[in-house]
Amino acid sequence: MGTNELIIQLAYLLSAILFILGLKRLSSPATARRGNMLAAIAMLLAIVVTLLDESILTFEWIIAGMIIGGLIGATMARLVKMTEMPQMVAVFNGFGGLASGLVGAAEFLRFQIGGAPAPSLDAAIAIMAGTLIGAVTFSGSLIAFGKLQGIVTEQPVTYPMQQVVNGLIFVAILAAMTLLVVAPASGPGSGVAPELVYYGLWAGALVLGILLVIPIGGADMPVVVSLLNSYSGLAASAAGFALNNNVLIISGALVGASGLILTRIMCKAMNRSLANVIFGAFGQAPDSDASSGEKRTKADVNSVGAEDVAMLLAYATRVVIVPGYGLAVAQAQHKLRELADQLEARGVQVRYAIHPVAGRMPGHMNVLLAEANVPYTQLYEIEDVNPDIQAVDACLVVGANDTVNPAARDDPASVIAGMPIVEVDRAKHCVVLKRSLSPGFAGVDNELFYARNSMMYFGDAADSIAKIVEEVKQL
Ligand code: TAP
Repeated sequence: MGTNELIIQLAYLLSAILFILGLKRLSSPATARRGNMLAAIAMLLAIVVTLLDESILTFEWIIAGMIIGGLIGATMARLVKMTEMPQMVAVFNGFGGLASGLVGAAEFLRFQIGGAPAPSLDAAIAIMAGTLIGAVTFSGSLIAFGKLQGIVTEQPVTYPMQQVVNGLIFVAILAAMTLLVVAPASGPGSGVAPELVYYGLWAGALVLGILLVIPIGGADMPVVVSLLNSYSGLAASAAGFALNNNVLIISGALVGASGLILTRIMCKAMNRSLANVIFGAFGQAPDSDASSGEKRTKADVNSVGAEDVAMLLAYATRVVIVPGYGLAVAQAQHKLRELADQLEARGVQVRYAIHPVAGRMPGHMNVLLAEANVPYTQLYEIEDVNPDIQAVDACLVVGANDTVNPAARDDPASVIAGMPIVEVDRAKHCVVLKRSLSPGFAGVDNELFYARNSMMYFGDAADSIAKIVEEVKQL
């Protein structure tokens, strides 16, 4: 190993260590910024030393790619709204998968058409695996993006024999991969040219990516995006094996594992299995919960105004704020922080209960509240809030619905049965800020709205909180 190669491998080792330390620090809001910074430094180091590699013949394409990619990334980071983050992550995963797939294509065609020496067996397997996972990730992520952006129907698209069709395509892909690994250089006279089989493999994998994601409902896309993120890591790892690049193998494996862990956490917090998310076509038909019983109206609830809510909160001792998806829609985080500050100034203890799947992406509420500089010491997990919630004077539910729905606890027949909830119905009082009695993501009616200790303050959460803030100031 030459000195240059030694420096590269040592730098790769250092960046792999920094990636792991960075990931570790991402597990707490207190250290997350530093963790992100460490991982970014690790990536920079890995890129810089890779550019030292003597096998790079020319830098024009690399520089052009860095400038164009950097400009697109910087523009998107500025333009994309917080609520559009899941789509952005989907696109990034997709292009990560495509890049890994293209590495596989370059390696394959370099040998097949360019006349380079044949890859070893393990490199050939890695090339095929990288192509398959990369292409599935790319097309699947584009469909996930389309569903989240409203370009592709959010409804699950299902048809008879769907899984059988997917299974057959997968078997055909495996057959093509095996053929290309076992007999890569089958020359003229041996039937179909290998490069045509390889293009067929790409086409099959792209179609499979689309077919795997279309039967999944739009609102389940964050789980799918997390799973595709894991796939993009595996594709990168496979590309690392194909290129014999250690840092790509390690970082790809880290992305693959963390994406899978996150997927598991999300499924657990929704009390759904991954199989149910992928094959369950959740959100397809109006479920029985949503339509059960007679239709109730706003006249059936205890509807209140800003003044009543202000009085309740300002004279409380303990208040728990439960943010949900509506907080993100209303972009009410800054007003909410102002309200919490006012209450604290009056001596009220204010805590935020953060449900793991509140909103539409992991950490959605944490990010929103961090944007408004809410101290993370005020954020509590549901296990920390539920045990003594009956001692809480008022729970303020801001645009949350499923994550506070008692049906998850009380009704075994409900589609959300078993999902952990913030048990706001057990507090002394509960105020719900939302615009109507419409259900949330799961399409399930919420008995909380009709409970005796509940009050509904209808309206956009940002407007409602602004009015409550004004009322609290008057007291
Ligand atoms: P949801 O149950 O989705 O309810 C959100 C509520 O916000 C709606 O009922 C809506 O009622 C209200 N809302 C919307 N815009 C509003 C506005 N401008 N002002 C005030 N209220 C507004 O929210 P949740 O409790 O956060 O639950 C999240 C759901 O998403 C769960 O079912 C979870 O399983 C699912 N999910 C989450 C994730 C992740 S990772 N977070 C991923 C996939 C699925 P109105 O229309 O009446 O205002």
